[in-house]
Parts: sequence; C-alpha cells; structure tokens
Amino acid sequence: MSLQLDERRKSMLAEMGLASFIFSPGAPGAPGAPELPAAAPRTAAPAPTVLAPVQVAAPQPRPVQQPNARADEIAQMEWGALAQAVAGCRACSLCESRRNTVFGTGDQRADWLIVGEAPGENEDLQGAPFVGPAGKLLDNMLKSLGLDRQHKVYIANVLKCRPPGNRNPSLQEVSLCEPFLRRQVQLLQPRIVLAMGRFAVQSLLGSTEPIGKLRGQAHQFMGVPVVVTYHPAYLLRSLPDKAKAWADLCLAQALLSAQTDSKDQG
Ligand code: URA
Repeated sequence: MSLQLDERRKSMLAEMGLASFIFSPGAPGAPGAPELPAAAPRTAAPAPTVLAPVQVAAPQPRPVQQPNARADEIAQMEWGALAQAVAGCRACSLCESRRNTVFGTGDQRADWLIVGEAPGENEDLQGAPFVGPAGKLLDNMLKSLGLDRQHKVYIANVLKCRPPGNRNPSLQEVSLCEPFLRRQVQLLQPRIVLAMGRFAVQSLLGSTEPIGKLRGQAHQFMGVPVVVTYHPAYLLRSLPDKAKAWADLCLAQALLSAQTDSKDQG
C-alpha cells in the first residue's frame, strides 16, 4: 500500500495536530522517511496515563439474572433487540446515574470497528459515542484515512453507560457490559478492530500490558484482527504519541488492504 502523503492528507493530518511531525525529518511519511507501517515504532513506550480521573469505589453489580443466561440471551439478539436491551439495562449501578445509554453508531456494514472506553459527559447527554473533543480528534483521524463515522465505520464503547465523574470502569462493569460488545462484533462482522485505550484493550484482548507493548502488531478478537492504539483523549495531551497513533492507523489500513488483496487473488 502506498502511503505517500498527498496535499489533502497533509491538511487532514494538520487538523490532527500532526503537521510538525509530518514535516519533520524521519517522521513517518516525511520525505526520506521509511514508508509506514514499516516505520511504526516497535519499541515499548511508557504506559499512557490514559483517563486517570478520580478513583471512586467501584459500585457493586446487581445482576438481574445468571450472568451466563443473560450473556446467552444477548448473543441471540438482532440489532433492534440489542439496542433495546442496552437502553433498558440495569445490570450494574451505572444505570442509576446515566442520563442516556450510548449504544454505538455508524454503518452496520462497517469494515472498521472503533472501540473506545465509556461515554463521558457529552456522550451521556447526547446518547452517542465520541461527541466531545476526543471525538473531534477521532473524526479527524478517520478523515485522514478517507473515512467518516457514517460510512464503513462503526464506533462503540466497552461500557454503554457513563461512569460517574468519568472514573475508570470497574472490572465488574466491563464484564457485565461485554456481552453487548461481543454481540455488536458478531452482527457487524468488521474486518478490522481498532482498540483505543487500555480499557478497550483489556476488554477485547484480556491483556493488562501497556499499549506501547501491544501496538505495532495484529491481535485477534472473535476472529477479527485487532490493532491497538492510544485513546484520543490521551492523544489530545500527547503530541509524540499522535505520531504513533498515525502509524497504528496505517497498520490497520494495511491489514485491511491485505485482506482485500488476498480475496482478489483467491
Ligand atoms: N471516550 C470514550 O472512550 N468513548 C466515548 O464515547 C467518549 C470518550
């Protein structure tokens, strides 16, 4: 895949705040620099201090039925029933503080599934994922690949309800919400998953390794290749890691193109 930066892409990347990185010598995509994703840094980066809001004691989940029976039931649902089940979910105490559930949004025939962490304040108000500043950056990242959130892309979170004060999700909340995300993956059958941030990684890959150790390679979730990258909220605070996120997007794009190429040949 040629990743030569044309003028349009340069301006998109400038929107992502990557202009200085693009034009600096040795940056991925810069004149004379190796082509991405081969240039993706493979060395371990420090664990991002992603989304480390105030710690609040984790609420106790109050399952309304046996977890396996509930997960089995969710695994049979079609889109409408699944959306209703999320909207009416009372499996954990997040239902008491949420204003809206955030099911997910986008193209149900998407190639790309973007998985974030949990709704924040704006998302809780609007009932849609990534509508705040981190969402603007995500939109610009997608634009840089010629994508947008309504076409070929679906965006969902690990948690469908906002943790109060944007605290970290608890393990119990993640595991109670997981059947919804699994069913979304089954229904969507995306060709690539981008796991953004450590909670997406923990939920999809069951790994607590730092993002820096997991990025730069293809993982798998339910048979779908997964690329790990930093959360956009973290990227808003870390310019150097935006460059790495660009390399991650290029890796995901390359994995997707490789699937198309092998289908064409077969
Ligand atoms: N952060 C997330 O992980 N998801 C959202 O929907 C918004 C912010």
